[in-house]
Amino acid sequence: MENLQWRFLPMLTLLASSLFLLFFKDPSKSSHSECSLLPYNHFWITSKRIVTPQGVISAAVEIKGGNIVSIVKEEDWHRNSKTGQVIDYGDAVIMPGLIDVHAHLDDPGRAEWEGFPSGTKAAAAGGITTLIDMPLNSDPSTTSTETLKLKLEAAEKRIYVDVGFWGGLVPENAFNESALEALLNAGALGLKSFMCPSGINDFPMTDASHIKEGLAVLARYKRPLLVHAEIQQDSGRHVELEDDTLDSRLYSNYLKTRPPSWEQAAISELLTVAKDTRIGGPAEGAHLHIVHLSDASSSLDLIKEAKSNGCSITVETCPHYLAFSAEEIKDGDTRFKCAPPIRDSANKEKLWEALMGGHIDMLSSDHSPTVPELKLLDEGNFLKAWGGISSLQFVLPVTWSYGRKYGVTLEQLASWWSERPAKLAGQASKGAIAVGNHADIVAWDPDTEFDLNDDHPIYIKHPSISAYLGSRLSGKVLATFVRGNLVYKEGNHAPAACGSPILAK
Ligand SMILES: *[C@@H]1O[C@H](CO)[C@@H](O)[C@H](O)[C@H]1NC(C)=O
Ligand SMILES: [Zn+2]
Repeated sequence: MENLQWRFLPMLTLLASSLFLLFFKDPSKSSHSECSLLPYNHFWITSKRIVTPQGVISAAVEIKGGNIVSIVKEEDWHRNSKTGQVIDYGDAVIMPGLIDVHAHLDDPGRAEWEGFPSGTKAAAAGGITTLIDMPLNSDPSTTSTETLKLKLEAAEKRIYVDVGFWGGLVPENAFNESALEALLNAGALGLKSFMCPSGINDFPMTDASHIKEGLAVLARYKRPLLVHAEIQQDSGRHVELEDDTLDSRLYSNYLKTRPPSWEQAAISELLTVAKDTRIGGPAEGAHLHIVHLSDASSSLDLIKEAKSNGCSITVETCPHYLAFSAEEIKDGDTRFKCAPPIRDSANKEKLWEALMGGHIDMLSSDHSPTVPELKLLDEGNFLKAWGGISSLQFVLPVTWSYGRKYGVTLEQLASWWSERPAKLAGQASKGAIAVGNHADIVAWDPDTEFDLNDDHPIYIKHPSISAYLGSRLSGKVLATFVRGNLVYKEGNHAPAACGSPILAK
């Protein structure tokens, strides 16, 4: 008899809960539970450290129907004024979700490199609520309305966070106004181009004449052009040509193949067209954004000068340029290969100085993975290995861990990772914890340390190629909300991929 009772009890509970669900679940919201780890869509988040545009406050944020509908400071808040569920995060930090404006998810066509499902799961686990996918490394590249449509199809029901798309500016479409207009009309948030070979055959490089044409079209849409600013100079190529005589395992040799003068030459050429973006200029409304700056000397000086001359120009750098320096990279460790390369520690210090001083506007991951075979980890050939750092899931703890000694504040993190990226991508409803915005939120604990090793839940497709593996970091993501859906909580993702594709209107 005792046995029987034990068997009945769980069954009865199950029956009762099924009945409860049948009677009390709103049928119109039946799929909601799949999109979120929470069974409700009206709730409050409370914390002593909520990062808002008005500073860090102790408050309660009310979320309803995917948006932030009110923010009540602790002193104004009476218990009975809150209706619905309350999630109390204590003194964990509540920040706007990160917006990564530079990620390569390689889908469709090279999903074995990353792909939307693993990439956006990694993003969610890292507190990233929106990412903007780059137009290259997928196959085909996103340079036309047809290829943008393929992106949208590949993303359908396969993204766990919101995903927008940059289009490609390439020689084939640069002088074709109607082709560029069609791509922008179809929703590309802006365009991206290379001033040096991209490493991908169907994404050729552009020069200043292409860029000038692109800017003129972008101006009418008030959307940005993102530029990979390196121009091949003989100084660097010379080294590459002598490939055979060099030890390709030496990081110092790779470094010599892409000197700072390449970045400087590109930026200097860019500035001849950047003038057009000034108020009253022929491309007023367009904006130039320099991606992944590595050289913190002459290149940065040129950007500062352009800003002071009224050009509409911003610049990003990436966590790997802030975390690592050439001196520490072991010969043969191609996990650290990227372009432009990670330079010496003096340069790293200058990058931090520029970031803290407001001369570098924002951060991005430039998550650029591949399959481990192409990283040539065994051979350690820096000249032949795929260039790209895998980092998507780790950018928040990395920025925080390495930034602490420079005195990085929570407000700065929110500005570099959310507010300014939202502005670049034209997302007025994102990037800040503010009433009316999407409830895109990360809850994280700055003081929890962890080892990034095999025991850590990692969602990028190929953890072994990440330069961060083996690091000890501080700053643990506790929960990530995308438009009010709890999409990630301590090692668990929502069952369904309910992120939205973002198209410019
Ligand atoms: C310009 O692009 C449109 C749309 O993609 C295409 O139909 C047309 O043939 C292109 N024109 C030229 C001159 O390449
Ligand atoms: Zn990139």
